[in-house]
Amino acid sequence: VGHTDNHGAKKSLGHVTVVIVGGTGDLARKYLWQGFFQLYADQVGKGHTFSFYGGALSTTEKGTPLLFDILKELACPAELSVERCALVKDQFLHLSKYHQLKTTEDYENLSQQIKQQLGQEGIIEAGRLFYLSVPAFAYADIAEKINNTCRPPSEAWLRVVLEKPFGHNLYSAQALDKKLSGQLKEEEMYRIDHYLGKQVVSKILPFRKENKKLLDPIWNKHHIERIEIVLKETLDAKGRIQFYDQYGVIRDVLQNHLTEVMTLMLMNLPANLSNSEEILQNKLNFLASLQHVDNSNAVVGQYQAYNGEVQEELNKTKDYFSLTPTFAGVVIHVDNAQYEGIPIFMTSGKALDERVSYARVLFKSNVFCVQDPNNVQCKSKQIIFYLGHGTLQYPAILLSKNLFKPELVSSGDWKEVTEYKDVNVLGLPLSDYYIQSPVTPREAYCELISHVFFGRKDSFISAEGLLASWEFWTPLLEGLSRVFPRVYPGGVDNGNLLNFQLKGHQVAFSHEAVVNVINPGAEDNFQVMQGKYRSSEMVSAWAQELVERLASDLLLAAEEAIREEGQFHLALSGGSSPVALLRALALNLYTFPWRNTHIWQVDERCVPHTESGSNFRSIHDLLLQHIRIPYFNIHPMPVHLTQRLCVEEDGGPTLYEKEIKKHVNGSSFHYILLGVGQDGHTASLFQDTKLENDEENLVILTESPNKPHQRMSLTFTAINRARRVGVLIMGKSKHELVSQLSRIKGESSKYPITKVQPKSGTLIWYIDYDALLG
Ligand code: BG6
Repeated sequence: VGHTDNHGAKKSLGHVTVVIVGGTGDLARKYLWQGFFQLYADQVGKGHTFSFYGGALSTTEKGTPLLFDILKELACPAELSVERCALVKDQFLHLSKYHQLKTTEDYENLSQQIKQQLGQEGIIEAGRLFYLSVPAFAYADIAEKINNTCRPPSEAWLRVVLEKPFGHNLYSAQALDKKLSGQLKEEEMYRIDHYLGKQVVSKILPFRKENKKLLDPIWNKHHIERIEIVLKETLDAKGRIQFYDQYGVIRDVLQNHLTEVMTLMLMNLPANLSNSEEILQNKLNFLASLQHVDNSNAVVGQYQAYNGEVQEELNKTKDYFSLTPTFAGVVIHVDNAQYEGIPIFMTSGKALDERVSYARVLFKSNVFCVQDPNNVQCKSKQIIFYLGHGTLQYPAILLSKNLFKPELVSSGDWKEVTEYKDVNVLGLPLSDYYIQSPVTPREAYCELISHVFFGRKDSFISAEGLLASWEFWTPLLEGLSRVFPRVYPGGVDNGNLLNFQLKGHQVAFSHEAVVNVINPGAEDNFQVMQGKYRSSEMVSAWAQELVERLASDLLLAAEEAIREEGQFHLALSGGSSPVALLRALALNLYTFPWRNTHIWQVDERCVPHTESGSNFRSIHDLLLQHIRIPYFNIHPMPVHLTQRLCVEEDGGPTLYEKEIKKHVNGSSFHYILLGVGQDGHTASLFQDTKLENDEENLVILTESPNKPHQRMSLTFTAINRARRVGVLIMGKSKHELVSQLSRIKGESSKYPITKVQPKSGTLIWYIDYDALLG
């Protein structure tokens, strides 16, 4: 082992072994070896000794020359003189070698080799760093081999660096996490997101902290007009389709890099920037406050040549079509008082007109310029975290001069830029900005490799943070799996084809595509269909359209009731079916007459309203908190009286009944929205529910076969008095039920839903195609 690098000057801090698994691959060639060379150059003579192994599946004979071809090409770190670099590089080459890493024996053998060499030289071991630069499917197996054969003695550390993709969606990320955590401790895993190593990204929190006093008053919905988080690339996916086609742009870039940037910009500023627990907690809180996104919040595209590349690289026939998006534009909203209503545009794509990445906060203009529009006060106010490329060509933080002069984020290694190239950055000439930028540019991988060495875990992705991000993205990804991306030619020819715009909280492409090269297929041509089901009216469509149709039918019913009686009484069910509907009502129907609408509950679980299992809680979270409705119009079921839940003597049902009678004319709701369980129950009326007094009672306590067992529910008497009853059934899991119900004529005690037969009102079934067609 070469420990000649120690110069004998300092006390030895121990030996560090670095193993790059996949050490002759593309990432290793491009970034990793350079990063470790830089680490070595930084650390040489400071007390640690090193050895470096490049490992791969090839034999030593084949792998060794491959590795040395890479090492020969390493560039000198800027701060070293030519002579010094030659010396250091020579040492580095001596300390590096190839090792076949295929079988468990190979790993065992590596570990033996490390031990023997250290033993012979009498050096203590500081730690072992494994960098897994291999496809993700190999992680679990390699982690197991490392765990079983390559753990250092207990005084030394083990750090295993992992590259994304960490899963494909929430479920696979959870599964991967479970497998890895069986082999490695969380503190041993370093999940890399190379964006966290970008110099500007790592300074977002420090910038916010340094300038807190001036930012605090404007970092909110009253001042911020919009936020843009952008990564545009000119490159395409050619050559890496094997990987790319399984992932697409959202998983490749938005779920990780851009989500991290957004989080750093908008999470609560931790009191202590070196407290990684506080940072993590604030990140998690922020991710939890994001509004759910679905297909209506995203547009996707695919560059024209992509499909041919897929056919070629994946050996597919000419009629194969990939739906993988290479471009995505998403609008995200935050559900808290500080940021609500601010659109966050997040976008990325391959084969676009330029390479650039930045995150920009654009502030509202509060000035009316009567004359002199070029005056600095009349120009746009923005803060830009510019990660690189584009017109500026270097990483920097830019602030419009009409905002304020910011503090430097870091006095030693950042500088203020006062020479202005003659270029525009996002609408303003450079001279209109205060600009600060790192003194020496450093590659993200170099930064992160040094952070692994120093054990700085907060520059890496935690298991919890990872899962929280997947939780946010997974529903959209599932929704998009059936969407045909808009085809774009690539480069400047894209013109305005990919521009997209806000419509309420949703987005859509701004311009019609002239032709769509991907075959739209039959599914797309179905819109909303009307028919009969169980001799009542039925509306059917794909989920999204169905929900929109139901929402607009509700609006019509509300307007009619208010015209006639001044009020609209709406009773809502719990469960999963109404979720999408409540969202649509909350976010898109701005004209809904909430002021004259009363919200009632069809049924409730006997849990406190603050708990997540409570139906009232979900009505609150999905709907009430987003709309302006008078508090006295909200009528939660009283399941929680005298400090206890649904006890007969407390008379909850009677209380609710009284309240209904007091407000609702003839106890006849204008609209009752129901769902149906897979077992045929509706409201909280189950097959076994005893309905002796049902004729008189409007509200009763019931028992569900599922937890929580105790429920409160409207009775059939109450339901069948309504003017309109809508039954919403969605999802493949309800298909069986939908076909069974269609075969039953009239009532069946096995299926409580069949007892819903409004006396003088109307019943309408809303059934989506998944439930109808299976
Ligand atoms: C990688 C993605 O993580 O990030 C690539 O897999 C993408 O598809 C790259 O090109 C962008 O990184 P950078 O540093 O060039 O902005």
